[in-house]
Amino acid sequence: MTLNDPFLQLLQESQIITATVVVFTIIGALFILLKTLSFLKLIVDVFVLPGKNLKDFGAGSGSWAVVTGASDGIGREYAMQLAAAKFNIFMISRTASKLKALRDEIENKYKVDTKMYAMDFTKGDKRDYENLKDIIEELDVGVLVNNVATNHEIPTPFYLEDDEIIHNIVEVNIAGLLKVTKIVLSKMLPKNRGLIINGGSFAGTVPSAYLSVYSGSKAFMNTWSQAIGAELKSKGIIVENVNTYFVVSSMSKIRKPSFLIPLPGPYVKSVLSKIGIPGGASFYPFNSNPYPSHALINWIISNTFSWSFWVNYTLGQQENIRKRALRKREREKEAAKSQ
Ligand SMILES: NC(=O)c1ccc[n+]([C@@H]2O[C@H](COP(=O)([O-])OP(=O)(O)OC[C@H]3O[C@@H](n4cnc5c(N)ncnc54)[C@H](OP(=O)(O)O)[C@@H]3O)[C@@H](O)[C@H]2O)c1
Repeated sequence: MTLNDPFLQLLQESQIITATVVVFTIIGALFILLKTLSFLKLIVDVFVLPGKNLKDFGAGSGSWAVVTGASDGIGREYAMQLAAAKFNIFMISRTASKLKALRDEIENKYKVDTKMYAMDFTKGDKRDYENLKDIIEELDVGVLVNNVATNHEIPTPFYLEDDEIIHNIVEVNIAGLLKVTKIVLSKMLPKNRGLIINGGSFAGTVPSAYLSVYSGSKAFMNTWSQAIGAELKSKGIIVENVNTYFVVSSMSKIRKPSFLIPLPGPYVKSVLSKIGIPGGASFYPFNSNPYPSHALINWIISNTFSWSFWVNYTLGQQENIRKRALRKREREKEAAKSQ
């Protein structure tokens, strides 16, 4: 038999095909194994592992939790649940009357100390930050919840968006975040202890067309959280960008809870019970995704289709929301005219 023998050639070809099939089968099996392991990790994170104890950050020993955007929605729940865990609560938000009502409720229910400060973050007023600094100077702060944020009124193409809305998003979601954190860190660092919870959003990981400035501000929050998370870890301060899908609130304009969209109560409970556990957000460090259905969505986004698929998916989703919002505006205009 020579090398040119057709039988020998056929044998060689079939060996190459078999080897190729074996290599691809091994790669496929490894791929499936890795995905299965990452899914199992998600299940263990979300349903089994306990988070850090809030006592590690001073709960019950006179420490304070500072909550921005505390008068409504998710921030209000943080204030209530951190008070239930026996932190004293310093709440910062825009509407003084809502803060006063919350302060009374917290003091009556949980018998902890409270402080409140009403300010409008869109103003970027230096005096407000100086006042915050003076108040925080007196407190032993264990927890900071950077929750305040503002959003586009409706999904809007960037080139059509109102300059004031763009300014407000940057002032509240970025400048306010940085200034408040810097003030609070000056109290946490000497104690080598602290927890910083940042109110992140899926819009910060999947770029959201028509919500471009909000989405960019949450991407900033995500990247900045990872950077300062790395800086502060060795100093005993935990930073968590809590990557959130929809929650019932005035900002989301969703009123009814569902499997994917919780009320603020159960959502915040999941965050506070899973400190230090990534949940569905294992791709980015210093991120967490504790609410079970949000963790699942995050896992699907990170492990299935391409990034462009999700960017296009969000584009379609926001285009539909924009159409509905514009129709609603038209109806409201017509109704106002006929009155
Ligand atoms: N809800 C969701 O589906 C969702 C999803 C992803 C991420 N998030 C994030 O979660 C956080 C909380 O959102 P939410 O849905 O709970 O919002 P929300 O119900 O609209 O509450 C916002 C809070 O921030 C305060 N606030 C708004 N603008 C302010 C300003 N200019 N100055 C001072 N305070 C201001 C509000 O005060 P007033 O009492 O005066 O209104 C209120 O207490 C935000 O960071 C948001 O980006 C929410």
